[in-house]
Amino acid sequence: MNTSPTHVAIIMDGNGRWGKERGFTRSKGHYAGAQAMEKIIDASIELDIKIVTLFAFSSENWSRPQDEVNYLMQLPVRFFKKKLPEFMKRNIRVLISGNQEALPEPTKKVFRKTVEATKNNNGIIVNFAFNYGGRDDILQAVHQVIEGVRNKKIALDNVNEQMIQQFLYTKELPDPDIVIRTGGEKRVSNFLLWQCSKSQFYFSDVYFPDFTKELLQQAIQVPGTPRILSNRLTR
Ligand code: FPP
Repeated sequence: MNTSPTHVAIIMDGNGRWGKERGFTRSKGHYAGAQAMEKIIDASIELDIKIVTLFAFSSENWSRPQDEVNYLMQLPVRFFKKKLPEFMKRNIRVLISGNQEALPEPTKKVFRKTVEATKNNNGIIVNFAFNYGGRDDILQAVHQVIEGVRNKKIALDNVNEQMIQQFLYTKELPDPDIVIRTGGEKRVSNFLLWQCSKSQFYFSDVYFPDFTKELLQQAIQVPGTPRILSNRLTR
């Protein structure tokens, strides 16, 4: 029997400090974070997690130094060029959650290509939250609903939680069973605000580049983590 939660969401924090404390740049910390991320995807498959959402760039991260932002925009381009053949072989489906419009063209392009290429894969879903903000997510869903009401495609009386859910960036996914944050801070930082209303939270002091399969396993085994399909539960 599978005892792992269905959907695990991770705030991959601590990359910058990891880099700085080793005398490297913050960007070197992100590179190490991307390597850890590859291992966490492998671990998620081994642990039979069905969906993993990874917070890779928040809508607040634009205020970081320009060279760091540029680096974070280029990382997916390099990452997916390298990983796409392997993702296809391993039946991994990639989704992207967040506002894609503001991204540089090469980043947008690699996301579009990867999502399209993997759309029929039915193994683990790896959902990258990129230029993602929880408030922005709710706001853009509300805008779509208002548009629907204006065009008379949606009746005001039918606007309910299920409808809002259908317009979120994560519309294809059940809510996360557990949200893990590495790096020592105990905050939600505008991540999946709507979706985490019933999720369990787990905080680790370990910086993300040092986060391992064993630590992931510990996190999802804490008492209280749901062990059956999340959307069948009323919690
Ligand atoms: C937060 O740590 C982390 C990020 C802003 C970026 C996370 C990105 C990755 C792990 C790689 C993403 C790769 C791809 C291919 C999508 P921080 O910089 O806030 O660390 P700090 O709290 O120590 O400053």
